[in-house]
Amino acid sequence: MTALIRLEHVTRRFQVKRRPGTPGVLGTPSVPFIKAVDDVSLEIQEGEILCVVGESGCGKTTTGKMIAGLLKPSQGKIFYQGEDITTLKDESWKRYRLGVQMIHQDPYASLNPTHSVYRTLAAPLKRHWPVGSESAIRSRARELLEMVDLTPASDFLDKYPHQLSGGQRQRVAVARSLTVNPSFIVADEAVSMVDVSIRISLLNTLLRLKKEMGLAVLFITHDLALAKYFAWEGRIGVMYLGRLVELAPARQLVEAPQHPYTKVLLSAIPEADPDVTRTKEHIQLRSMDVPSLLRLPSGCAFHPRCPFFEGGDCETVVPQLTSFRDGGAEYSGAEGLGTAYSSAVACHPAQRRRQAGLVNETAAEAD
Ligand SMILES: Nc1ncnc2c1ncn2[C@@H]1O[C@H](COP(=O)(O)OP(=O)(O)OP(=O)(O)O)[C@@H](O)[C@H]1O
Ligand code: SF4
Ligand SMILES: [Mg+2]
Repeated sequence: MTALIRLEHVTRRFQVKRRPGTPGVLGTPSVPFIKAVDDVSLEIQEGEILCVVGESGCGKTTTGKMIAGLLKPSQGKIFYQGEDITTLKDESWKRYRLGVQMIHQDPYASLNPTHSVYRTLAAPLKRHWPVGSESAIRSRARELLEMVDLTPASDFLDKYPHQLSGGQRQRVAVARSLTVNPSFIVADEAVSMVDVSIRISLLNTLLRLKKEMGLAVLFITHDLALAKYFAWEGRIGVMYLGRLVELAPARQLVEAPQHPYTKVLLSAIPEADPDVTRTKEHIQLRSMDVPSLLRLPSGCAFHPRCPFFEGGDCETVVPQLTSFRDGGAEYSGAEGLGTAYSSAVACHPAQRRRQAGLVNETAAEAD
């Protein structure tokens, strides 16, 4: 099956401006650069949910922007419905750019404060939805507001962003993204600036739209608890310092995490029952310092912080994201990027355990 989106070894570098007079670090290029995203390969199928989680600066937004065509990869290829996006022109480029819509974190910044809700929705409708009359456009705008649970729609059509709450603004941003009938939504921290009390209802709206419209969603968040809720029927990818370190169906990632960083993130999620939270094992990092992207640690970039650090190849060889069949054989090439495999992990000891067929054991149990 052709994937809706496919990333092949995608890397994105940024030059880092050095302040005038600041000396360079021995061994770094004269114009230093960072790899915000480093050798990421993955596939997203039609109608699928993929959550990307990781701490601030690990490259989530950069990945989302490249997928949405807002940033170019420095290396690697991105395919939309099987076509390399760098080869798309005119109509096919337009189809891709409209087909993949991005919802940003800050609904305050993403809506024009001088445009009413109607004008915000009518502008793309007029451009891309040739229905003619003003009344047809008004009726479609009303429909879109109802789809994002802003009801009755007539109460919202003539409002301006400053007259709406944060959650309502974000719903308008979602409605605007739907004006062009996308097949794929990139939701970048779409609920993190919204009051905690209405986060779940906004997530539920997105989940309902995904189901009703058959949308694929890339949901970007730093909060694994949110990812767990949103992607329970989909997959979760964990990023660390620009690289994907684990990618698996959500249930499997939560119930049998393979990568030490995933285990740390999971152990930090508070449970609904305070007694369970109190007794839950908290896996401690060896160091709280996040390395600079300018000077990454050798081998596995997580090694200075990794609670399961074993030395040897942990310090010398960069672990590649590798997926395994049950029983330990490796998937390779295109097959390894699909949704059929059980999980993929970039950690030497975890890969050795997978090769040995020890799928569900934690590092401690396997030792
Ligand atoms: N335009 C840019 N120019 C230079 N560096 C950039 C640029 N955009 C992002 N970066 C850097 O790339 C790295 C990854 O940034 P990115 O915004 O993708 O991270 P993120 O995971 O989305 O973080 P957050 O959770 O804080 O939003 C960071 O170090 C960031 O400073
Ligand atoms: S490769 Fe080694 S240092 Fe890196 S995550 Fe795995 S155990 Fe930890
Ligand atoms: Mg971001």
